[in-house]
Amino acid sequence: MYGSVFAVMLPLKEKDKALVEKLLSFGCCPRCVLRFCCVNVQAPYKRPTQELLQELKEFIGDDDKTSTGEASGDKSQSGAAAEQEAGEAPPPKRFKPDETEPEERLVCPVCLGILQEHCDQTLASKVAEAIKTENYVFDSLVLSVSLPAQLCVREHSCWLHVKTEVRAKSLVLGKDDVILVKEAFKWVMQSLVSKALGGAAVVSKSAFEVGVEFIHPETDKDCHFLATTCPDCFKPTKNKESVFTRMAVVKALEKITDEQFLKHYPCPPPRPSSCCVSRDVQCLHTSVFIAGRYNKFCRSLPQTPWLINGERRMESSVEELIAGPILQTFRATGFNFSSSGREDVDVRTLGNGRPFAMELINPHKPRFNRDQVKTIQQTINESSDKIRVRDLQIVSREAMSRMKEGEEDKTKTYRALVWTQKHIEKDDIGFLNDIKELTLDQKTPLRVLHRRALAVRPRVIHSMSSEYKDSHHFYLGLKTQAGTYIKEFVHGDFGRTKPNMCQLLQTDTDILELDVESVDVDWPPPIPE
Ligand SMILES: *[C@@H]1O[C@H](CO)[C@@H](O)[C@H](O)[C@H]1NC(C)=O
Ligand SMILES: *[C@@H]1O[C@H](CO)[C@@H](O)[C@H](O)[C@H]1NC(C)=O
Ligand SMILES: [Zn+2]
Repeated sequence: MYGSVFAVMLPLKEKDKALVEKLLSFGCCPRCVLRFCCVNVQAPYKRPTQELLQELKEFIGDDDKTSTGEASGDKSQSGAAAEQEAGEAPPPKRFKPDETEPEERLVCPVCLGILQEHCDQTLASKVAEAIKTENYVFDSLVLSVSLPAQLCVREHSCWLHVKTEVRAKSLVLGKDDVILVKEAFKWVMQSLVSKALGGAAVVSKSAFEVGVEFIHPETDKDCHFLATTCPDCFKPTKNKESVFTRMAVVKALEKITDEQFLKHYPCPPPRPSSCCVSRDVQCLHTSVFIAGRYNKFCRSLPQTPWLINGERRMESSVEELIAGPILQTFRATGFNFSSSGREDVDVRTLGNGRPFAMELINPHKPRFNRDQVKTIQQTINESSDKIRVRDLQIVSREAMSRMKEGEEDKTKTYRALVWTQKHIEKDDIGFLNDIKELTLDQKTPLRVLHRRALAVRPRVIHSMSSEYKDSHHFYLGLKTQAGTYIKEFVHGDFGRTKPNMCQLLQTDTDILELDVESVDVDWPPPIPE
């Protein structure tokens, strides 16, 4: 009589009986039973494990412990309550199961307890607490779960044990139709986490990811035998603690034959004495990108922190002055600054400024409207006389690459104060105004040889202009291809740049001051004031 009622509640059919029975017999937890029965609707997984277990037992006709389903349900409920209370001071799990031990205390040998003890309100609260503690602002979140690699071995062992029964359900069912632990975990946890956060949207895709990681040290060695059956699958990689990554284990399991597997690993998987433990919850919001243009008015400000042997040479930098207020507002944990070229510490950048973009890593408050971004810009402007920022805007990761695209084809204009050894008259420098499209051969400057490869690079000066100052000084205007070394063009760099200003004027010349007047990159787009 009950059989028909429960068959409606659980999407199981008569022909699943043998499979359910086999799974329960070696201690599979109710949710793992559902997984191996390929139950692909979420609702049954969300029900309490005690209730599920009871129903599964009744389904296979193993409900003879008590005379009625009602009484048996009550008994297991109180058992669960007792277990929860004991949870504050957990009892040692290394007991030898005896007749009086409630079965549900035993750890599932397939999911190592993840779908038993861990899929509950307590974990949901822990997740919600982590998000609240870090004070994230978000529209939605995606829950991710990282499982111990050896879980794949147990899953495989269980599959080998029951595959005849699974296939008996239907000709087409295979290992891929078994519901993944990950999937079942999410089905149960998503709504619990959502509730714990007061109704937040827990979805399958979001820029905000909250990760739960499970480990199970007791069985870490379970997958080590795979290294003998597939040595190629386990190559050491730089930043992994262990070669037994989930991916490598999956790959090795795809290659191993059933016979080989059974030689090395028991089937069904043996019962562990302890349950998986969850590590700290990890929250990560994907990067936000912000771009703009900066002016630099100071001749003693490096673009990025200037360190020599780990010691700071200048108290600040363009990057830090810009990043400070932005990081604070977005509450990001780090940043990555890039710009369209860079200027030397003693060079000013005037005009419309130099395009820059920043990746903001793990922003806790990722969304701002135009007015709010303008306020950030104002804060930067008012924080120092050394720099100014304009056209500040949130951009996409893809748009950022436009700044670097074809950088070498772009032009830049400069104004330099030049000293001449020889006494000059206005007429001596007038001819410079007529020089167009002058190609230079620039050997990598001595001062940057430590970070750039030695090469001769052709660079074009599109036009020049001169403005007489006094008998030993004039202002030189230059419109050049991006990437031209201006200082070297003026002083010659011991003949490493040819032709150079010394050759053109037939006297020693040096550069005293340099300003960037414009960087002709049409990104980011201007923001109307
Ligand atoms: C910064 O950007 C570079 C190049 O795009 C990248 O290799 C690096 O991983 C980034 N750093 C961080 C902390 O994201
Ligand atoms: C910041 O300074 C730039 C350059 O002077 C100016 O164009 C921009 O309007 C200023 N922005 C704000 C919000 O103060
Ligand atoms: Zn399980």
